[in-house]
Amino acid sequence: MDIEAIKTQIACDLNDLKSIQALEGVRVKYLGRKGLIAQLTGTIPSLPAAERASFGRQVNELKTGLLALLDEKQKALAAWREGADADTIDIGMPGIAPELGHLHPITKIISEVCAIFRQMGFSVVEGPEIETEFNNFTGLNIPLEHPSRDVFDTFYLATKSTLLLRSHTSPVQIRVMKSHKPPLAIVVPGRVYRPDAVDASHSFMFHQIEGFVVDADITFADLKGTLEFFAKSVFGKDISMRFRPHFFPFTEPSAEVDISCILCKGKGCSLCGRKGWLEILGSGMIHPNVFRHVGYDPSRYTGFAFGMGVERIALLKYGIEDIRLLFENDLRFLKQF
Ligand code: PHE
Repeated sequence: MDIEAIKTQIACDLNDLKSIQALEGVRVKYLGRKGLIAQLTGTIPSLPAAERASFGRQVNELKTGLLALLDEKQKALAAWREGADADTIDIGMPGIAPELGHLHPITKIISEVCAIFRQMGFSVVEGPEIETEFNNFTGLNIPLEHPSRDVFDTFYLATKSTLLLRSHTSPVQIRVMKSHKPPLAIVVPGRVYRPDAVDASHSFMFHQIEGFVVDADITFADLKGTLEFFAKSVFGKDISMRFRPHFFPFTEPSAEVDISCILCKGKGCSLCGRKGWLEILGSGMIHPNVFRHVGYDPSRYTGFAFGMGVERIALLKYGIEDIRLLFENDLRFLKQF
């Protein structure tokens, strides 16, 4: 075997090497137990005595040279790999987009409704969720014996406490009227609490939007026009609206407001319980006793008030069948809005 030819072959093998595994292959090819170097060494005893020493030296040189080349190539490959790793950060590749949140359907309804009333000149005001018995009941002309004042219908903070979790947003009427003079046009979104068993249409916590207007000469016609504009803005121009006589201690006269069923348009279906109408809020003209409690002269001022359940509006508007879906934080549900 020609040693020079082998050197050329080695140079060739190492030259287009791309991986450590391939380098290992070359090592075995030449230095392995049955490799070329071993074969060369094996031929020494059969050589003429005069050539053995010099051939042996050449084979040794070849081996040392090859070891050095392999070592060098290994280092070069390692360095090349590090460089390649750095290059694999492809700045042209699309990034991993962070998941974006969005507003909860309840928050959306609150903003939408408040925006409608702002258009009509109302201001948005908030009140505390912990209220006094006076603001939640007494100031609103709700007598001591009224069942809603019972501990089974209101969350009191402690036994015999006069502090409670407000059961409606109406106490904010008292707060605003006590601290401001008419004219007033206010809407109040917020959470309210009632010890109701949770089911598809009840929750111990829900949201209301209260509204009230006080000035000289405010009439039931103002209430009607305001609510009709509101209902048509939320549910569409083609709905009709009606007042149904009702009783609230803090308004007189009082009425519940229905809109024609948004599903069957009044024909009667399962959503409206075959009535053709859907109740959306309670309303009325502010009771003179409420004005007395806040120091307004009832012979000088009149006003109207209304209160709606936000969840109910959301259920109707979005066609949701169970109020609990709004509070379970299930993204499969929430992502639809
Ligand atoms: N506060 C009443 C309720 O929670 C709603 C209401 C508000 C009714 C204002 C009339 C006027 O049911």
